[in-house]
Amino acid sequence: MFVVVGVSGGIAAYKTVQVVRALVTNGHEVHVVPTEDALRFVGTATWEAISRHPVTTSVHDDVAEVRHVALGTQADLVIVAPATANTLAKMAAGISDNLLGVTILATTAPVVVAPAMHTAMWDHAATQANIATLRERGVHVVGPADGPLTGGDSGPGRMVEPDEIVAAALAAVDEQTTDAGAPHDRDDLRDLDGLRAVVSAGGTREPIDPVRYLGNRSSGRQGVAVAVAAADRGARAHLVAAHVDDGVLGDAERHPGITIERAGTAAELDTAVRAAASEADVVVMAAAVADFSVPEVSDVKIRKEDGTITLDLVETPDILAGLVERRRPGQTIVGFAAETADSDDELRERGVRKRARKGVDLLTVNRVGWQQGFEATENAALFIDGTDEVVAEASGSKRAVADALWDAVRRLR
Ligand code: CTP
Repeated sequence: MFVVVGVSGGIAAYKTVQVVRALVTNGHEVHVVPTEDALRFVGTATWEAISRHPVTTSVHDDVAEVRHVALGTQADLVIVAPATANTLAKMAAGISDNLLGVTILATTAPVVVAPAMHTAMWDHAATQANIATLRERGVHVVGPADGPLTGGDSGPGRMVEPDEIVAAALAAVDEQTTDAGAPHDRDDLRDLDGLRAVVSAGGTREPIDPVRYLGNRSSGRQGVAVAVAAADRGARAHLVAAHVDDGVLGDAERHPGITIERAGTAAELDTAVRAAASEADVVVMAAAVADFSVPEVSDVKIRKEDGTITLDLVETPDILAGLVERRRPGQTIVGFAAETADSDDELRERGVRKRARKGVDLLTVNRVGWQQGFEATENAALFIDGTDEVVAEASGSKRAVADALWDAVRRLR
């Protein structure tokens, strides 16, 4: 989620560092917009280091990119913490004489304020009227808490704790999403925020000699779409890519939420996925793993001699079985099955048997044939879970199938 954290000039600004930190740790993109006064309490260097983005108070920076409006329009959430009596008054009046004021006017995202001030200022009729106006306009007000204030007094006016601000802010976003119903534009959906996903994609290649390999027709498109969908929806995705067709990795390479690791053979894929899975919440094995490899790879090109050749093959490690065996508590494991079948019933039955045999939480079954499944940009799939039921079906683009997969994973979790 793109979050703007506005900071106005109060001592509680030091606690807002924790708010920013918590949001960044959970995978959100956070832009801090302090007022000039706020910088007297916590300086630019701290905000930049914690948020990992440049920080300015001025509406005149990046004028060409209309930065003053861009922050507000891009935001999925705006938090103002601490919100001083002065900033709340300006918000109520629509004053926009600094970057924070402009950002607040330009946004349609939920706005959450955490007031912090002396009790007398909080109790003043002007502040109370401003708060009432803001509430009426849909601004969420969290706090203030009652307790010791700077200067030795005690009473309402303390900014609430950082975790409470984060919880209230995320709840405000959820509320808006629920009110609006299911978002139509999947790019806006951030329902996998903070999830750590490992996705394998593409086909492995098992070398025979320096020029030949055993491979398969997987293009990697479906697996890459699964990783991109996860990252678009807020997850941090680690994509372990075996061989994929040219250009297929493009979207993933450009995505800030995705790290890519290459693996050529089934054994390399096994090592990479196993290591990554030890820190993952969800593992999706979309790769087409060769079932057999050549135990003795020839160092020289095998030549034609008497017209026939015999290759000894051994089974590759079953990566999915290994993952299921070593599953972390709470980890969800998703397998793929590409099956040839004459009817829908046969496809489903094959899927049910394979789901049970593999012990995965969810199996994505798609029908393949000479003309189906591979290389195409379209796909159709069934999703079978531990109840042996088809819990979802999807057809259309590989992205649509990927989104259906994540919807099913979310329901399972
Ligand atoms: N898979 C794996 N390791 C292997 C083979 C397959 O992890 N050595 C994973 C695939 O990534 C996929 C799932 O297992 O998620 C099912 O792949 P599939 O080839 O259909 O499974 P097999 O066990 O090889 O089944 P079959 O007997 O039908 O070939």
